[in-house]
Amino acid sequence: MTQPLRIGLAGLGTVGTGVVKIVQRQAPMLAARAGRPIEIAAVSARSRHRDRGVDLSGYAWEDDPVALARRTDLDLVIEVMGGENGPAKATTMAALGSGKHVVTANKAMMARHGQLLAETAEANGVGLRFEAAVAGGIPAVKALTEGLAGNAISRVMGVMNGTCNYILTKMEATGAAYDKVLEEAKKLGYAEADPTFDVGGFDAAQKLALLSATAFGTQVDYDRILIEGIERVNLADIEHAAELGYRIKLLGVARKTRSGVEMRMQPCLVPAHSAVGQLEGVTNMVVFEGDAVGRITLSGPGAGEGPTASAIMGDVVDLARGFVLPAFGQPAATLASPTPANATGEASYYLRILLTDAPGTLAKVAAALGESGISINRMRQVQHTGGAAPVLIVTHETGRDALDAALGRISALEVCREEPIAIRIEDV
Ligand code: HSE
Repeated sequence: MTQPLRIGLAGLGTVGTGVVKIVQRQAPMLAARAGRPIEIAAVSARSRHRDRGVDLSGYAWEDDPVALARRTDLDLVIEVMGGENGPAKATTMAALGSGKHVVTANKAMMARHGQLLAETAEANGVGLRFEAAVAGGIPAVKALTEGLAGNAISRVMGVMNGTCNYILTKMEATGAAYDKVLEEAKKLGYAEADPTFDVGGFDAAQKLALLSATAFGTQVDYDRILIEGIERVNLADIEHAAELGYRIKLLGVARKTRSGVEMRMQPCLVPAHSAVGQLEGVTNMVVFEGDAVGRITLSGPGAGEGPTASAIMGDVVDLARGFVLPAFGQPAATLASPTPANATGEASYYLRILLTDAPGTLAKVAAALGESGISINRMRQVQHTGGAAPVLIVTHETGRDALDAALGRISALEVCREEPIAIRIEDV
């Protein structure tokens, strides 16, 4: 009989439990597709006796995930413990170093150590796969490494944090304030243990770093992503954006330019009627632009037990079939050194500026923009409170340097009551 693929599962939280369920429920289907049985042989987690609603009695138990990774009766380790360093990295290195494939959902570890881990996998003749680390159930990495392998990719975009999209769309739909909706997102289990990773843009930026490396054949370069979170977006911005025909999304963009790869994760205004603009709730979306295919848009659940376990099992079945692809779609040694490019492309911006409501203040703002070479497209002043009035401006296209100069001039005005908000309007 064909040898089964024997799995060691490191981590039995939501995702690990989801993997156990699929392996148990779909055993005949998985065996048919992989050409061999897929079995879990051993598991490891922090708490042995917690009831997880699945039967683990047939599996060997290891308290130490690194000991699990070193067992000699396994072919593949699934790492779903999380964490950039610590046990997750030690387990992954131990598994690769002892000749086992690794499938991981760990975006933080891959964004930080992707190159080292990819090199280690190749040096040991095994596979390292991370589909579940990017946009949950959407097969985004496979789309790039397989289906779109014949394309030079020019741009990758994504709404890849469900918590942020939930907050932004719920605020718009209900008129509820940011803090209240964030609390709801935490209760519903969408947010990370520390929601700063979600709302600060870091979780989504890690995913963008992985997609960008895969799309452009470069080493992972998380540290050079321009990251802005959604914390300063308020209900008024969402409502005004809607009146102007836009919606606000935490949008990641990685774009190939003549000087390198530009990567940014920031709130953007996008046309309300666009596919990205219409994305509701915790759903994720990734968009790829290839020279031969044009634009490909994929959307689906970006987190949760079933979707994340689904992505893991896609990778496991590939490896069981003997399909061992380099982690980023080409050998690690051929990945180019990152050449980050500044976001120099021109764009229109939405500005919100809180001004003292007194004669001549608007003229001062207009002058500050004019002196910076920025032309105003639309301008409105809205509800006055306590002697101050928010002024909303949509600029014509301008470079980031000119915008920063204008924001500096405006902040320095005595009539400016708080740091101005600038949100890029993205052509999606
Ligand atoms: N907390 C993430 C999100 C899910 O809200 O999308 C896992 O990355």
